[in-house]
Amino acid sequence: MSDSTSRPASVSESTTEKRLAKKTPNDFIFGKVIGEGSYSTVYLAKEVGTNREVAIKVLEKKHIMREKKNEYVMREKEVLTKLNHPFFIQLYCTFQDVDRLYFVLSYARQGELLYYLHKLASFDMECTRFYCSEIIVALEYLHSLGIIHRDLKPENILLNDEMHIQITDFGSAKILKSDSERTTSNSGRRNSFVGTAQYVSPEILTSKTACYSSDLWALGCIIYQFLSGLPPFRGLHEYQTFQRIVKLDYEFPEGFNATAKDLVEKLLVIDPTKRLGSQEMGGYAELKKHEFFKETDWENLTKTKAPPLVPYLPGTSHNPEMWSGHDSRPGFDDKRLVEIISDGFLSEDERVKQLQDQAKTNDYHRFVESNLVLKQGLIDKRKGLFSRRRMFLLTEGPHLYYVDPVKKVLKGEIPWSKDLRPEAKNFKIFFIHTPNRTYYLEDPESRSEEWVRKINEVWKHYYGNQ
Ligand code: ADE
Repeated sequence: MSDSTSRPASVSESTTEKRLAKKTPNDFIFGKVIGEGSYSTVYLAKEVGTNREVAIKVLEKKHIMREKKNEYVMREKEVLTKLNHPFFIQLYCTFQDVDRLYFVLSYARQGELLYYLHKLASFDMECTRFYCSEIIVALEYLHSLGIIHRDLKPENILLNDEMHIQITDFGSAKILKSDSERTTSNSGRRNSFVGTAQYVSPEILTSKTACYSSDLWALGCIIYQFLSGLPPFRGLHEYQTFQRIVKLDYEFPEGFNATAKDLVEKLLVIDPTKRLGSQEMGGYAELKKHEFFKETDWENLTKTKAPPLVPYLPGTSHNPEMWSGHDSRPGFDDKRLVEIISDGFLSEDERVKQLQDQAKTNDYHRFVESNLVLKQGLIDKRKGLFSRRRMFLLTEGPHLYYVDPVKKVLKGEIPWSKDLRPEAKNFKIFFIHTPNRTYYLEDPESRSEEWVRKINEVWKHYYGNQ
């Protein structure tokens, strides 16, 4: 890449412009799309000559003008130009042609942290501590430059080759210009900007002013989400989420670690000046002293090996002490292994007959798109520390639908592919591994192995000959 990769943080805008003017789209071979936003598309690209991989954010000028987003684009460039820290995406250069603007960025090969959170549903304490420590060091640096991110969320936290964070997306950032703006926690001017609903702080909603502490609120939401699988403030729609935020209306699920709970409670405080980590509360030094970060080596995070990403699941193999009652005995009840369900794959006549019968007698027929149900039953579908009872319907196709049995609405489908793999952990718990997500399921009837057997049978029928 050009010498601009090693630019010092202080390089002036005009110097940068002169150097970058040399680049054109022809200097890169564009590859696949790796990110898409409302106003931009990010491509993986290789620089001709050096073969270095980069991420290129491409913005359509017309679209930006039509949507009046010029200010956001300028802001993003201004912030990225100021940044020079390992926990942030780096801007190598910018250029433009008649129709588009191009931002050449460092490529975070491991993608979004959100991808891993979706895959595992939640992170264990060690992963949460590691990633939150890195976010804190990043925020401390960002705030020291007078910049508030204002849209911090797992989606904007990318990962490099070594699984260290690379914070991105500064279109919503605020740069505090005057000294008085920088040194008071309040940025002063009212602003119409509101970030992503679940992570937005109460002061942004009530007084329309963001401060450094607004990013600490988002951090509190992120810690909660890493450990539990869901952000703390959730509503059926944005307005309900906002109402819950301003009322501090949230709860901790059972099994939430007590030290982490204490930390989250000290971050999710309505008054921004009372949040742990705010200047009024002793700044980052105080936040870093919290018991939750006891094991963090603050000075050497970039050199610390990232811990393997492991879900936080009291009650499963990672926390065996939480397995309770008779179901926690190793092995399975032999009696249950004897019964093999072998119906399902029938002659066409028989199938049509059974389908007609299903339409008349099965309340859930309307959810399965006229597919014959091969197995159904109530299953607790876990997501981190949360659990929801669902009617699971394994059908020909194959499909694995799940329906809210109370509201009688289809909630989703576990995507089938030849890579789908069920795994029984004990009588109750079984996993369904898919390329993008591992589903954690609990059979209240303690017949997890029946599900695994039937799913394997269906797998063999559809994919066994490939
Ligand atoms: N998605 C958006 N920006 C990215 C980047 N810089 N690297 C990897 N994936 C991205």
